[in-house]
Amino acid sequence: MRADIRYNLVIDGDEFARAQAAADEASDLPAERIDPEQFYCTQLWDRYTPEDHAVWATLVKRRLETLEQQASDVFLEGMRLLGFDREFVPRIAEVNAKLKGLTGWQSRPVPGYLPAKAFFACLSRREFPTTVTIRPRELLDYLPEPDIFHDVFGHVPLHADPVFADFLQTYGKAALHCEDPYHVERLARLFWFTVEFGLIREQGRVKLYGSGLISSVGESPHALHSPDVDRRPFDLDRVCDTPFEIDHYQPILYVLESFEQLRDAMHEYANRVLEESGVAA
Ligand SMILES: [Fe+2]
Repeated sequence: MRADIRYNLVIDGDEFARAQAAADEASDLPAERIDPEQFYCTQLWDRYTPEDHAVWATLVKRRLETLEQQASDVFLEGMRLLGFDREFVPRIAEVNAKLKGLTGWQSRPVPGYLPAKAFFACLSRREFPTTVTIRPRELLDYLPEPDIFHDVFGHVPLHADPVFADFLQTYGKAALHCEDPYHVERLARLFWFTVEFGLIREQGRVKLYGSGLISSVGESPHALHSPDVDRRPFDLDRVCDTPFEIDHYQPILYVLESFEQLRDAMHEYANRVLEESGVAA
């Protein structure tokens, strides 16, 4: 983990170090001994600067200009239910208060990128590890790692949908208990082509729901309209067999017919993975 003074502004330094160390150590623990509470930090909201809030406001304003036409209705409904502030970086506690009664999901602040096992342990408890730092203005269009715009604006609205909410928890359980490298790789691909870069067909039109697309003003029109993108019908096994590439616009994307399709396919796959791992689904 690189040392970055920005993290210390909105997360206490000692808490940050403890949480990151616990998350790193989780990689070597059996699933049942991983305690996600140790990975979480406090969002020190008062420490956001006027510039941080201004960056949030700019990102939200720019994204909302086209999002209504591009995003899934389910995603947009989640946004309406959560009602993000357009001017100020969101307070995670306020988002959670609204989420609780909808699906029971919660966002939990983390120091930064979590190792895979730690991340999956959180998902298996209906908790979403959420980066609370925000990108600097110089990196408005592209940030290689998550920030609060990607995580809260891009991911969290779907957690308000009961079907997607169940899918994500089932995914977390399967990924947490999976030790077979073959399935580990397949599950990573599934996450990439759905949670991060998923498309869905609604009323005959292809829409975005993956956070990597939702939070990218540049890639969204490319994903929806470019002739260079191979938009394939979702099929879980085919998705899991497709390697992905990072650091450039995605040449292959998968289109769901509904979130029920994703939930049901995941449920079936989780049963397979957990059975092979000797864990009750
Ligand atoms: Fe993400």
